[in-house]
Amino acid sequence: MTAFANLATTREIIVCCGTGGVGKTTTAAVLAIEAARRGRRAVVVTIDPAKRLADALGLDALSDEPKLIDQQTWNIFDRDPARSGLAQGTLSALMLDTKSTFDKLVHEHAPDEPAADRILDNRFYRNISGALGGTQEYMAMEKLHELHTSGEFDLIVIDTPPSRHALDFLDAPERLMRLLDNRMFRLLMMPTKTYLKLAGAALQALLRTVSRVVGREVVDDAIAFFQAFEGMEQGFRDRAAKVQELIDDPATAFVLVTTPRRDAVDEATYFAQRLESNGLQVAGLIVNRIHPEFGSESPESLRALAHGNAAILNLADFREIAIRERETLETLTARIPSDAVGYVPLLDEDVHNIATLATVATHLF
Ligand SMILES: Nc1ncnc2c1ncn2[C@@H]1O[C@H](COP(=O)(O)OP(=O)(O)O)[C@@H](O)[C@H]1O
Ligand SMILES: [Mg+2]
Repeated sequence: MTAFANLATTREIIVCCGTGGVGKTTTAAVLAIEAARRGRRAVVVTIDPAKRLADALGLDALSDEPKLIDQQTWNIFDRDPARSGLAQGTLSALMLDTKSTFDKLVHEHAPDEPAADRILDNRFYRNISGALGGTQEYMAMEKLHELHTSGEFDLIVIDTPPSRHALDFLDAPERLMRLLDNRMFRLLMMPTKTYLKLAGAALQALLRTVSRVVGREVVDDAIAFFQAFEGMEQGFRDRAAKVQELIDDPATAFVLVTTPRRDAVDEATYFAQRLESNGLQVAGLIVNRIHPEFGSESPESLRALAHGNAAILNLADFREIAIRERETLETLTARIPSDAVGYVPLLDEDVHNIATLATVATHLF
């Protein structure tokens, strides 16, 4: 069994990390399909704004709730006789919606519906709900936690957003805790009267200045928000701690995805370092869109014996690309055990349907 088949078979969560366009959505789908083929209940969570995954899976659209994908759609993997005969599980997919995930969290932790509505209707909340929890990345982890605790899935594969901040969720639980410990935040959480009495002249002056700059309404909104937040604090704290546990859980695997291009490799190296500094391991590295080796001759010796033969000159060029790509990858692949590195060649078409997903799968498993 390859390292990736092993991940798809044994892990509970797989997070695919990498810069934009390297093939995260593609590999996330392939890993989830493989798990389903091996009899597991798998779900792939995507943040793909291009909705390519929905297209490839034959869905009109993906929603914020897991959608079961007809087995007929992904069963095509079994047309490959070498890979047939495995027990079959289920495959679901969903698209992450940051705002609705956060709203759900508020509903869950608010003491009652009116309290939840007070927060959700608050203008301040509406402006910061993206930022408060530590951005979209943190909400991805929230969704993960929600899916994980639902007990409906054996494996959740998540496709992270295409940004340098993609790993911010690693720090987000701590950031949320820090916010809750913040003195200003504590003061704002107090019931109005106590708050006004306790708020020293300095704070009052500060608030007046802030009011002048951003408008009294904004400050009132903020205060109302923090007061409505009262009683939910513990819930948020507990949740942040649980999300942290989930990130650190040995059943969670981080898979790096890259192409052999210098910028993508640098980005993947950065991700690897970030994970390591958080005490996390890279469970696998997928090098996508690599050129095959085209033999072992050096481009120079090929050119020497080509005598103008276009095919051989062409081969020499390809050899050069192949060698350069492997050099670019050298320091990154050296950090990762060789059996945990998978190579997927550059295909001559976009991965836009199940058939091409199946082709990618044959290279990984
Ligand atoms: N091995 C491959 N060969 C050719 N095209 C690929 C390959 N892997 C991915 N693609 C294409 O590259 C583009 C980016 O892939 P995608 O999985 O959406 O990347 P990401 O999610 O990292 O942005 C898509 O158009 C996809 O079809
Ligand atoms: Mg994507």
